[in-house]
Amino acid sequence: VFRNKLEFFAAAKVSSSFPPPTIPEIAFAGRSNVGKSSLMNAITRQWGVVRTSDKPGLTQTINFFKLGPKLCLVDLPGYGFAYAKEEVKEAWEELVKEYVFTRTGLQRVCLLVDTKWGLKARDQELIDSMERSKTPYQIVLTKTDLVFPIDVARRAMQIQEDLKKNKSIVNPLMMVSSKSGAGICNLRTVLAKIARF
Ligand code: GTP
Ligand code: MG
Repeated sequence: VFRNKLEFFAAAKVSSSFPPPTIPEIAFAGRSNVGKSSLMNAITRQWGVVRTSDKPGLTQTINFFKLGPKLCLVDLPGYGFAYAKEEVKEAWEELVKEYVFTRTGLQRVCLLVDTKWGLKARDQELIDSMERSKTPYQIVLTKTDLVFPIDVARRAMQIQEDLKKNKSIVNPLMMVSSKSGAGICNLRTVLAKIARF
């Protein structure tokens, strides 16, 4: 499925403009700048279809991409971005929560966490929402190229310990670097199974 062409097909600022849910969906969530857009490019090997940026907060809408006829990838706007106005931040967060709660066809949320920084309060809030809505999610540690391997392992153990009582989490936790390509193959294998529903 990851050999299919990635095609942008919808952007939504409000839930009423979500496209009809016809195929299984995998969403990428996480703090602003954590590497969501880069990871979507890396797993599809199609650089530039999903826009990435050094400036946090670039992705301000929920963006839907088709990956062939059987799978949709969704780039969620990043939260916790420091310079945005408070109202704007809250609107994005509400939109992400609404998406998670209402979206039929949503098979998996990949919650990206920066290996260097770990879980933050906003991540925990989204985790709580997904636990309440029983949305299957998995943790993906990003930017592992910026951290010593021992610290990647420590971070992974710490997060697994913190979340061990959660019910909707799909294990194991994965670790990736969109820059070096580490872990990308593994993640692709895990996600490809979702398309075979
Ligand atoms: P928002 O759209 O603002 O929410 O950000 P995002 O989560 O989509 O992040 P994006 O993919 O745009 O990446 C943010 C910055 O991190 C860019 O400068 C990327 O080049 C960089 N980056 C992403 N992945 C990696 C990685 O694996 N390693 C390193 N070193 N840098 C990365
Ligand atoms: Mg982005």
